[in-house]
Amino acid sequence: MRPTRTSGRPLAPDARLLEQAARTLAERRGLPALPDWTVLQRQERRRSTLFRLSAVCAGVDVHAWAKVDAVDDGDAAAAERRLARFRESLLCELRVAPVLEDRFCHLGVGFDVPLAIDPEALAAVRLEVAGRPLGRAATYLRPGRQKRGLDLLARVGAALRAAEDAGATLGPSFDRPALHRRLDPYLQQARERLDVGVMAMLEDRIPSLVSAIDIEVAAVHAHGDPSPTNVLANGTQVGLIDFSWRPYLAGESVAHLAARLSCEPWVPDRWRRKARDALLSGYGRANVPSWHLSYLVRVLRWAVKPDSPTSRWARDELDRLLATSTA
Ligand SMILES: Nc1ncnc2c1ncn2[C@@H]1O[C@H](COP(=O)(O)OP(=O)(O)OP(=O)(O)O)[C@@H](O)[C@H]1O
Ligand SMILES: [Mg+2]
Repeated sequence: MRPTRTSGRPLAPDARLLEQAARTLAERRGLPALPDWTVLQRQERRRSTLFRLSAVCAGVDVHAWAKVDAVDDGDAAAAERRLARFRESLLCELRVAPVLEDRFCHLGVGFDVPLAIDPEALAAVRLEVAGRPLGRAATYLRPGRQKRGLDLLARVGAALRAAEDAGATLGPSFDRPALHRRLDPYLQQARERLDVGVMAMLEDRIPSLVSAIDIEVAAVHAHGDPSPTNVLANGTQVGLIDFSWRPYLAGESVAHLAARLSCEPWVPDRWRRKARDALLSGYGRANVPSWHLSYLVRVLRWAVKPDSPTSRWARDELDRLLATSTA
């Protein structure tokens, strides 16, 4: 099976992958026979095609999602890079899932446990995580419910930390020159778009944060994209999906969500600070240099974007960060 192009989306999940997923599920649940999948729904997203699946296992409904990532048609080089990145992520997922399962189970946080992965076809079947995307589940941050909501966010923070710890078992990720190669484009954009005073402070702050990092410890495979569509919650449960196992700076994933909690409209204004504190207290390491650098870079990436509520927030936040002694 070949990876899909954005123009050639699959209309059904691959039969061999489904069979493999049924076999894994039967093994996990100690079932004598292979469950049969029914495809309930097909969803075409910008960068993937998803199929929601169900099967009856020993009288109980089990749901799973088959996902096929799509690479661009247009730019062949970009498609190759994306292909390589997704393959690498799926190979990492195969290795790290058992470690992650132990750690997440301990924290009471769900994740999209893989049942079958085909790195060549950029396809996988994963168990369903309960809940709705956090952006739509923000009612849990409203008065009367916020204690529960804050507890869910603390668990998300702890889970992002556990993912980084599990990701550390995947071995060395990147070195100091690679970190500079990642930061350079953001600084270049900032030089073009931010005013000279801010830029002078950034040119001073970023190198000192970079040199404070112990790169061996700070560069880890991690979730990478805990956007509000990749964190699912209901009143009592929370889980993460859509891990992109790649090398990041420790703290980069939690910085991403912390920044979004600070400015996106789905978080009630009066709960922003509490929501962010809960997330960071669960993460528990938000004062290490790699966190400061990650957060500063996350804010910088938004600050250089065209004018929008997010970029305006990011410019103010950047000013605030640069005015304090730590980023
Ligand atoms: N294992 C799962 N459990 C529960 N819901 C899922 C699962 N996989 C996918 N979904 C649903 O499908 C949506 C998109 O899935 P996913 O994030 O994997 O795709 P994506 O192409 O990366 O989308 P995005 O770019 O929005 O992150 C999720 O927000 C969720 O609603
Ligand atoms: Mg997603």
